Amino acid sequence: MTIWDELKRHQEAVKDRAILSLFDDARATEFSARTASDGGEMLLDFSKTNIDAEALALLLSLAGGVEARRDAMFSGAKINETEGRAVLHTALRNLSGSVSVDGQDVMPALRATHARMQDFARDVRGGRFTGQGGAITDVVNIGIGGSDLGPVMATLALAPYHDGPRVHYVSNVDGAHIHDVLKGLNRETTLVLIASKTFTTIETMTNAETARRWMAEKVTDPAAQFAAVSTAAEKTAAFGIAPERVFGFEDWVGGRYSMWGPIGLAVMLAVGPEEFDAFLAGGADMDAHFRTAPLAQNLPVLLALVGIWHAQVCGYTTRAVLPYDQRLSRLPAYLQQLEMESNGKRVAMDGSDLILDSGPVVWGEPGTNGQHAFYQLIHQGTRVVPCEFLLAAEGHEPDLAHQHRLLIANCLAQSEALLRGRSLEVAREMMAAKGLTGPEQDRQARHRVFPGNRPSTTLAYRKLTPFVLGQIIALYEHRVFVEGVILGINSYDQWGVELGKELALALQPVLEGQADGAGKDGSTRMLVEFMRGR
Ligand code: F6P
Repeated sequence: MTIWDELKRHQEAVKDRAILSLFDDARATEFSARTASDGGEMLLDFSKTNIDAEALALLLSLAGGVEARRDAMFSGAKINETEGRAVLHTALRNLSGSVSVDGQDVMPALRATHARMQDFARDVRGGRFTGQGGAITDVVNIGIGGSDLGPVMATLALAPYHDGPRVHYVSNVDGAHIHDVLKGLNRETTLVLIASKTFTTIETMTNAETARRWMAEKVTDPAAQFAAVSTAAEKTAAFGIAPERVFGFEDWVGGRYSMWGPIGLAVMLAVGPEEFDAFLAGGADMDAHFRTAPLAQNLPVLLALVGIWHAQVCGYTTRAVLPYDQRLSRLPAYLQQLEMESNGKRVAMDGSDLILDSGPVVWGEPGTNGQHAFYQLIHQGTRVVPCEFLLAAEGHEPDLAHQHRLLIANCLAQSEALLRGRSLEVAREMMAAKGLTGPEQDRQARHRVFPGNRPSTTLAYRKLTPFVLGQIIALYEHRVFVEGVILGINSYDQWGVELGKELALALQPVLEGQADGAGKDGSTRMLVEFMRGR
């Protein structure tokens, strides 16, 4: 019998048990883990799941290969085997020491680029780098996917630390996006950052051209108000961006893991190099925890095992990420790329079909807003949706501490309600108290039953500082890594995005009437005709 078989057998045996019945005096402590670093204490509580000591022991035995693979990743080994690349985003946030790729220490170049980013950010923020009309008031970051989602998420998350120019993001090729962002901006005091690892992504390059035309309407040397972050120096030069405003990185930084380096420049411009460094320090702190904490107390490992239990063992197909932290409103979108582009695969590293489901659908919204939208389904729908709550003990608004307490109460109430539910008996009593009797009492009571026994985890932290944000993001990155290792897949490629890109390129001439739709299916041909107004 494999460990997977044993896990399935165990899950089958305990699936109808009330999670609430597992709680004795020790459970909350035993089924939780903490980091205790100076910058930010963090608590991961997974006691409100159906994982018991036997399940945890089995899950931990699945993680046997994780440590060797983890050490290989940190050492610069080419663990991204389908692209022949190392995976070293961790080096971007721990700039001391040395790491070799192909026999060469990559750290001196990383440190030099980081220092150039800091100088540039200080010059922009200090008014020494100017536009035609004076100090930079607005920065427009043009990028998509990993060159957008992380910086957008972090800029919103770190709003209390934002003391630099206003930062705007354009990602969608839909002209409405760039139109609405540029509208109202002063060309003469705007800096445009083109953020693209490859500098070929059609959305980004199209928006970059649009921004350049927009800038040229008023600015005599538009290229002087452009900067680029990319691995493709020759392409940024061809676009006309001077090398001193190009911040490069290497192909061993995956797009969705890249916000720690030059792709984070917009964030650094917003909050300043010191706060950005605190963000990096938080990420490095989580790296140290991941590398040194025993597996049974290791937050990324435990979060991954809970994910595996719910997705691959229990068969729950989605997981909801529910930050009770308004400033993490884009965390679910960021995690959709991080988790689903990394672990949404169908074959194992060796090309064989996966024997288990790959990663679940990740979705979510901040609380309390979600409570007034989709929590109905989470509480009373027929599908079980494991929920991941995130919650700060403190807000940044001391004069609104009473609102923060209300936020905390709501978050804790939701995980308690999911756990506890409400029985038919209690619902009947409620209806009886309203004077209902007989079949009508029963009918009304049934609508008010909450099955409960619905699993959730809570990640609690003191306050959403730059350091803590770094910890949270690195925690999720490593969780994805651990899940990928256990499932045997490569979390660092994304071949599944290619086909759509190829077909879109081929469809463009068809839409423009320069090619016919021969070979296209009837549906696509009909839609093309409709779009062309025929
Ligand atoms: O289409 C997917 C993707 O390749 C992502 O992996 C990446 O983050 C995004 O596109 C943007 O790519 P680039 O930074 O090269 O423009």
